[in-house]
Amino acid sequence: MDKNNFPVGVFDSGIGGLTVWKDLVADLPNESVIYYADSANCPYGPRKQEEIIQLASKVVDFLISENCKIIIVACNTATAAAIDFLRSKYSVPFIGMEPAVKPAALNSKTKSIAVLATEGTFNGKLYTETSRKYAKDVVLNIKVGDKLVDIVEKGLINDPSTKSHLAALVKTLIDENIDHLVLGCTHFPFLTEVLTEVLPPNIRIIDPAPAVVQQTKKILEMNDLTKKEFSNPEYRFYSSGNSYTLKNMLKEITDLKYEIYEL
Ligand code: DGL
Repeated sequence: MDKNNFPVGVFDSGIGGLTVWKDLVADLPNESVIYYADSANCPYGPRKQEEIIQLASKVVDFLISENCKIIIVACNTATAAAIDFLRSKYSVPFIGMEPAVKPAALNSKTKSIAVLATEGTFNGKLYTETSRKYAKDVVLNIKVGDKLVDIVEKGLINDPSTKSHLAALVKTLIDENIDHLVLGCTHFPFLTEVLTEVLPPNIRIIDPAPAVVQQTKKILEMNDLTKKEFSNPEYRFYSSGNSYTLKNMLKEITDLKYEIYEL
Protein backbone atom coordinates (compact mmCIF):
# COMPACT_ATOMS: atom_id res chain seq x y z
CA MET A 1 0.00 0.00 0.00
CA ASP A 2 1.10 3.53 -0.82
CA LYS A 3 2.55 5.29 2.23
CA ASN A 4 0.51 8.41 1.40
CA ASN A 5 -2.64 6.49 2.26
CA PHE A 6 -1.41 5.62 5.75
CA PRO A 7 -3.07 7.40 8.69
CA VAL A 8 -1.96 10.42 10.69
CA GLY A 9 -1.34 9.48 14.35
CA VAL A 10 -2.42 11.80 17.18
CA PHE A 11 -1.94 11.23 20.90
CA ASP A 12 -2.51 12.85 24.26
CA SER A 13 -2.64 11.75 27.88
CA GLY A 14 -6.43 11.75 27.49
CA ILE A 15 -9.12 13.61 25.58
CA GLY A 16 -7.30 16.98 25.39
CA GLY A 17 -5.83 16.19 21.97
CA LEU A 18 -9.37 16.06 20.58
CA THR A 19 -9.15 19.86 20.40
CA VAL A 20 -6.40 19.29 17.81
CA TRP A 21 -8.13 16.29 16.16
CA LYS A 22 -11.22 18.42 15.51
CA ASP A 23 -9.27 21.11 13.60
CA LEU A 24 -7.18 18.45 11.84
CA VAL A 25 -10.13 16.58 10.32
CA ALA A 26 -11.77 19.88 9.35
CA ASP A 27 -8.64 21.14 7.55
CA LEU A 28 -7.37 17.84 6.13
CA PRO A 29 -10.65 16.04 5.41
CA ASN A 30 -9.05 13.45 3.16
CA GLU A 31 -6.62 12.04 5.75
CA SER A 32 -7.39 9.03 7.95
CA VAL A 33 -6.52 9.59 11.61
CA ILE A 34 -5.75 7.28 14.53
CA TYR A 35 -6.10 8.92 17.94
CA TYR A 36 -4.63 7.40 21.10
CA ALA A 37 -5.79 8.59 24.53
CA ASP A 38 -3.47 7.31 27.24
CA SER A 39 -6.36 7.50 29.70
CA ALA A 40 -4.91 4.84 32.01
CA ASN A 41 -2.00 7.19 32.74
CA CYS A 42 -3.71 10.59 32.65
CA PRO A 43 -2.65 13.17 33.83
CA TYR A 44 0.93 13.46 32.55
CA GLY A 45 1.37 16.96 34.04
CA PRO A 46 2.71 16.06 37.50
CA ARG A 47 4.87 13.11 36.30
CA LYS A 48 8.66 12.99 36.03
CA GLN A 49 10.26 13.48 32.62
CA GLU A 50 11.63 9.88 32.44
CA GLU A 51 8.20 8.50 33.15
CA ILE A 52 6.56 10.62 30.42
CA ILE A 53 9.26 9.51 27.96
CA GLN A 54 8.45 5.87 28.72
CA LEU A 55 4.70 6.38 28.40
CA ALA A 56 5.01 8.39 25.17
CA SER A 57 7.33 5.76 23.64
CA LYS A 58 4.78 3.03 24.34
CA VAL A 59 2.08 5.06 22.62
CA VAL A 60 4.34 5.83 19.65
CA ASP A 61 5.25 2.12 19.30
CA PHE A 62 1.54 1.41 19.02
CA LEU A 63 0.90 4.18 16.47
CA ILE A 64 3.84 3.02 14.36
CA SER A 65 2.56 -0.58 14.48
CA GLU A 66 -0.66 0.89 13.03
CA ASN A 67 1.41 2.38 10.16
CA CYS A 68 1.05 6.06 11.09
CA LYS A 69 3.01 8.17 8.57
CA ILE A 70 3.34 11.21 10.86
CA ILE A 71 2.63 11.66 14.58
CA ILE A 72 1.15 14.73 16.27
CA VAL A 73 2.05 14.90 19.95
CA ALA A 74 -1.21 16.69 20.81
CA CYS A 75 -0.05 17.25 24.36
CA ASN A 76 2.14 20.13 25.52
CA THR A 77 3.37 18.14 28.51
CA ALA A 78 4.48 15.13 26.44
CA THR A 79 6.10 17.47 23.89
CA ALA A 80 8.04 19.25 26.63
CA ALA A 81 9.26 16.01 28.18
CA ALA A 82 9.71 13.67 25.26
CA ILE A 83 9.84 15.23 21.77
CA ASP A 84 13.66 15.30 21.55
CA PHE A 85 13.82 11.66 22.61
CA LEU A 86 11.05 10.61 20.20
CA ARG A 87 12.70 12.40 17.28
CA SER A 88 16.02 10.71 18.00
CA LYS A 89 14.50 7.24 18.38
CA TYR A 90 11.98 7.06 15.53
CA SER A 91 12.27 8.06 11.88
CA VAL A 92 8.63 9.11 11.48
CA PRO A 93 8.12 12.93 11.48
CA PHE A 94 6.71 14.37 14.73
CA ILE A 95 4.67 17.54 15.22
CA GLY A 96 4.88 18.93 18.75
CA MET A 97 2.89 21.46 20.74
CA GLU A 98 4.26 24.40 22.62
CA PRO A 99 2.47 27.33 24.23
CA ALA A 100 1.86 30.08 21.64
CA VAL A 101 3.91 32.73 23.46
CA LYS A 102 5.17 34.30 20.22
CA PRO A 103 1.85 35.56 18.72
CA ALA A 104 0.64 36.64 22.16
CA ALA A 105 3.79 38.66 22.87
CA LEU A 106 3.83 40.22 19.39
CA ASN A 107 0.21 41.36 19.58
CA SER A 108 0.08 42.47 23.20
CA LYS A 109 -0.81 46.11 23.74
CA THR A 110 -0.71 46.05 27.52
CA LYS A 111 2.70 44.28 27.32
CA SER A 112 1.44 41.72 29.77
CA ILE A 113 0.43 38.18 28.75
CA ALA A 114 -0.20 34.89 30.52
CA VAL A 115 0.25 31.19 29.87
CA LEU A 116 -1.94 28.56 31.47
CA ALA A 117 -0.33 25.12 31.32
CA THR A 118 0.68 22.07 33.36
CA GLU A 119 3.63 21.87 35.70
CA GLY A 120 5.41 19.53 33.27
CA THR A 121 5.14 22.03 30.41
CA PHE A 122 6.57 24.91 32.47
CA ASN A 123 9.45 22.70 33.61
CA GLY A 124 10.44 21.84 30.03
CA LYS A 125 13.43 23.21 28.14
CA LEU A 126 11.19 24.11 25.19
CA TYR A 127 9.08 26.49 27.27
CA THR A 128 12.12 28.17 28.82
CA GLU A 129 13.67 28.70 25.39
CA THR A 130 10.49 29.95 23.72
CA SER A 131 9.70 32.41 26.48
CA ARG A 132 13.29 33.67 26.58
CA LYS A 133 13.21 34.18 22.81
CA TYR A 134 9.77 35.70 22.29
CA ALA A 135 8.72 37.29 25.55
CA LYS A 136 11.59 39.75 26.02
CA ASP A 137 9.40 42.84 25.72
CA VAL A 138 6.39 41.70 27.74
CA VAL A 139 5.63 40.63 31.27
CA LEU A 140 5.00 36.89 31.09
CA ASN A 141 2.72 35.58 33.81
CA ILE A 142 2.53 31.84 34.26
CA LYS A 143 -0.18 29.81 35.92
CA VAL A 144 -0.42 26.08 36.50
CA GLY A 145 -3.91 25.02 35.52
CA ASP A 146 -4.53 23.11 38.71
CA LYS A 147 -7.31 20.51 38.49
CA LEU A 148 -8.32 21.65 34.98
CA VAL A 149 -7.26 18.43 33.22
CA ASP A 150 -9.24 16.48 35.77
CA ILE A 151 -12.31 18.69 35.28
CA VAL A 152 -12.25 18.08 31.52
CA GLU A 153 -11.57 14.33 31.88
CA LYS A 154 -14.46 13.98 34.34
CA GLY A 155 -16.86 15.80 32.01
CA LEU A 156 -17.40 18.64 34.52
CA ILE A 157 -16.90 21.51 32.06
CA ASN A 158 -20.36 22.97 32.65
CA ASP A 159 -20.52 22.24 36.36
CA PRO A 160 -21.06 25.46 38.37
CA SER A 161 -17.99 24.67 40.49
CA THR A 162 -15.83 24.88 37.34
CA LYS A 163 -16.78 28.50 36.74
CA SER A 164 -15.87 29.54 40.29
CA HIS A 165 -12.64 27.52 40.15
CA LEU A 166 -11.64 29.24 36.89
CA ALA A 167 -12.61 32.68 38.19
CA ALA A 168 -10.32 32.22 41.20
CA LEU A 169 -7.52 30.87 39.01
CA VAL A 170 -7.45 33.79 36.57
CA LYS A 171 -8.01 36.56 39.13
CA THR A 172 -4.32 37.35 39.63
CA LEU A 173 -3.80 37.35 35.85
CA ILE A 174 -6.57 39.93 35.38
CA ASP A 175 -4.92 42.01 38.11
CA GLU A 176 -1.69 41.87 36.05
CA ASN A 177 -3.56 43.60 33.19
CA ILE A 178 -2.95 40.81 30.66
CA ASP A 179 -4.53 41.09 27.21
CA HIS A 180 -3.67 37.59 25.94
CA LEU A 181 -4.18 34.24 27.67
CA VAL A 182 -2.31 31.40 25.98
CA LEU A 183 -3.81 27.97 26.51
CA GLY A 184 -0.72 25.80 26.93
CA CYS A 185 -2.50 22.49 27.42
CA THR A 186 -4.70 20.80 24.84
CA HIS A 187 -7.39 20.05 27.44
CA PHE A 188 -7.98 23.74 28.12
CA PRO A 189 -9.69 24.87 24.87
CA PHE A 190 -12.67 22.79 26.06
CA LEU A 191 -12.97 25.40 28.83
CA THR A 192 -12.95 28.42 26.50
CA GLU A 193 -16.65 29.17 26.88
CA VAL A 194 -16.48 29.22 30.68
CA LEU A 195 -13.20 31.16 30.58
CA THR A 196 -14.83 33.79 28.40
CA GLU A 197 -17.48 34.25 31.10
CA VAL A 198 -14.92 34.93 33.82
CA LEU A 199 -12.46 37.05 31.80
CA PRO A 200 -12.90 40.70 30.77
CA PRO A 201 -13.77 40.97 27.06
CA ASN A 202 -10.44 42.60 26.10
CA ILE A 203 -8.48 39.43 26.93
CA ARG A 204 -7.87 37.25 23.89
CA ILE A 205 -7.69 33.50 24.45
CA ILE A 206 -5.15 31.72 22.23
CA ASP A 207 -5.62 28.09 21.25
CA PRO A 208 -2.57 26.69 19.42
CA ALA A 209 -4.50 23.97 17.53
CA PRO A 210 -4.88 25.86 14.20
CA ALA A 211 -1.13 26.56 14.05
CA VAL A 212 -0.35 22.89 14.76
CA VAL A 213 -2.64 21.75 11.98
CA GLN A 214 -0.97 24.19 9.54
CA GLN A 215 2.43 22.82 10.55
CA THR A 216 1.18 19.24 10.00
CA LYS A 217 -0.03 20.18 6.52
CA LYS A 218 3.36 21.70 5.73
CA ILE A 219 5.39 18.71 6.98
CA LEU A 220 3.15 16.24 5.12
CA GLU A 221 3.73 18.22 1.90
CA MET A 222 7.48 18.59 2.48
CA ASN A 223 7.83 14.83 2.98
CA ASP A 224 5.49 14.00 0.10
CA LEU A 225 3.18 12.18 2.51
CA THR A 226 -0.13 13.91 1.75
CA LYS A 227 -2.90 11.50 0.75
CA LYS A 228 -3.35 11.96 -2.98
CA GLU A 229 -6.39 10.00 -4.07
CA PHE A 230 -9.79 10.69 -2.58
CA SER A 231 -11.26 7.84 -0.59
CA ASN A 232 -13.33 7.97 2.55
CA PRO A 233 -11.04 8.64 5.50
CA GLU A 234 -11.19 6.34 8.53
CA TYR A 235 -11.20 7.66 12.09
CA ARG A 236 -10.18 5.29 14.86
CA PHE A 237 -9.81 6.00 18.58
CA TYR A 238 -7.91 3.91 21.10
CA SER A 239 -7.92 4.34 24.84
CA SER A 240 -5.50 2.68 27.24
CA GLY A 241 -8.15 2.97 29.95
CA ASN A 242 -11.84 3.67 30.27
CA SER A 243 -13.23 5.25 27.09
CA TYR A 244 -16.36 6.72 28.71
CA THR A 245 -15.29 10.40 28.53
CA LEU A 246 -13.83 9.92 25.06
CA LYS A 247 -17.18 8.58 23.84
CA ASN A 248 -19.12 11.43 25.43
CA MET A 249 -16.84 14.14 24.10
CA LEU A 250 -16.82 12.70 20.57
CA LYS A 251 -20.61 12.70 20.54
CA GLU A 252 -20.47 16.42 21.29
CA ILE A 253 -17.77 17.51 18.88
CA THR A 254 -18.36 15.53 15.68
CA ASP A 255 -20.93 13.98 13.36
CA LEU A 256 -18.30 11.98 11.50
CA LYS A 257 -18.27 8.17 11.57
CA TYR A 258 -15.62 6.63 13.83
CA GLU A 259 -14.71 3.54 15.86
CA ILE A 260 -13.53 3.41 19.47
CA TYR A 261 -11.46 0.61 21.02
CA GLU A 262 -10.32 0.06 24.61
CA LEU A 263 -6.87 -1.54 24.85
N1 DGL B 1 -3.31 17.69 27.36
C1 DGL B 1 -2.08 17.77 27.99
C2 DGL B 1 -1.22 18.93 27.64
O1 DGL B 1 -1.40 19.50 26.59
C3 DGL B 1 -1.75 16.93 29.15
C4 DGL B 1 -2.38 17.22 30.42
C5 DGL B 1 -1.98 16.21 31.46
O2 DGL B 1 -2.09 15.02 31.19
O3 DGL B 1 -1.57 16.65 32.53
O4 DGL B 1 -0.36 19.32 28.37
